[in-house]
Amino acid sequence: MKPGEILFLSKNEVGKFIDQKEVLELTEKALSEFSLGNTINPSKLVLPTNPYHNGHINSMPSYMRFGDAAGVKVVSVYNDNPKKYGLPTTIGTILLFDPETGMPICIMDGTLITDLRTGAVSGVNAKYLAKKDSGSLAIVGAGVQGYTSMEMILRAKPGITEVVACDLSPERREEFIAKGHAEYPNVSFSGIEDHRTALRDTDIVVYATSADRPLLENGDPAEGVTVITVCELLTRKSVGMFDHWYTDFAECALERYNDGGKQSAEARGLAWDDLTMDLVRGETGDVITGKLPGRTNNREKILAGAVGVSVEDVICAELVYKKAIDQGYGRILDLEDL
Ligand SMILES: NC(=O)c1ccc[n+]([C@@H]2O[C@H](COP(=O)([O-])OP(=O)(O)OC[C@H]3O[C@@H](n4cnc5c(N)ncnc54)[C@H](O)[C@@H]3O)[C@@H](O)[C@H]2O)c1
Repeated sequence: MKPGEILFLSKNEVGKFIDQKEVLELTEKALSEFSLGNTINPSKLVLPTNPYHNGHINSMPSYMRFGDAAGVKVVSVYNDNPKKYGLPTTIGTILLFDPETGMPICIMDGTLITDLRTGAVSGVNAKYLAKKDSGSLAIVGAGVQGYTSMEMILRAKPGITEVVACDLSPERREEFIAKGHAEYPNVSFSGIEDHRTALRDTDIVVYATSADRPLLENGDPAEGVTVITVCELLTRKSVGMFDHWYTDFAECALERYNDGGKQSAEARGLAWDDLTMDLVRGETGDVITGKLPGRTNNREKILAGAVGVSVEDVICAELVYKKAIDQGYGRILDLEDL
């Protein structure tokens, strides 16, 4: 490709060049590179479209030395999309750049990569922080990120034989169970009404809902449980129920949890008390690289919250781009007419 040309890759094309196994490995690699300081990854910038529309659009840039890759993911989260328009809640677009010249080189669907890498972060958290003998998994919020979290945890943490799904919508819960039955015949699937049951009875619990209020703080986590959140509005009360709280990106997580939590509390006429850095035990990447020990016994209650790190997206997008170029896939558009 000559300077000014960009490769355009649709979701189907992206899907040809990346699979679950690769995303799981690359996500772990991205988090460890982030921990080792080999990345430039500012906190995400959030554009809320409320009160005019019900959603937000996040801008997530990063550069990583591994692969010499630079890019930006833009991700929209519109919770009404499935019901109102039959569209996904979470929609991503990824732009890649030549890090030497800054010229754009690729625009690709980022929805598939977002879904898979969000699940992969749950898988990595389960691998490093859940009890060794974990056999049961609960997914609270049986939507897209809930399903990929389940898939990646089953892959990263062998030994899970039981999955329970919990969702406000009985239809989504049943769809999740039916799909799970068909795709994982060796795992038993069932549904529960109340997420608090999962906190008592299940080894690993993932919160992946689109709820606009905190759920976890109403529960009572059992000894040894590992709770992984990809979206839950964490509060001081919920964090305080655990022995340790890990997050993928501490600075960004505090910004996101405090902004989202405050907004949600104000809407319900409640006071908000900010989460602070002293509450965070450390980052997931620090456990992967051995800077922090992770779980040390079967009694600890561990909370692992993920808000997403751009390098997870860019590392996957770079692989897709290189494979597509090698195999002559995608459409080349002349953007700059140089
Ligand atoms: N951490 C990350 O990197 C990351 C990445 C992508 C998306 N997300 C977040 O994940 C969340 C889910 O995204 P998605 O694409 O899976 O959406 P989705 O619409 O496919 O799934 C969300 C599910 O949550 C259910 N739900 C809502 N309120 C609930 C409640 N109170 N109890 C139980 N279930 C409830 C909905 O019925 C729906 O099935 C979004 O809020 C998004 O911001 C996080």
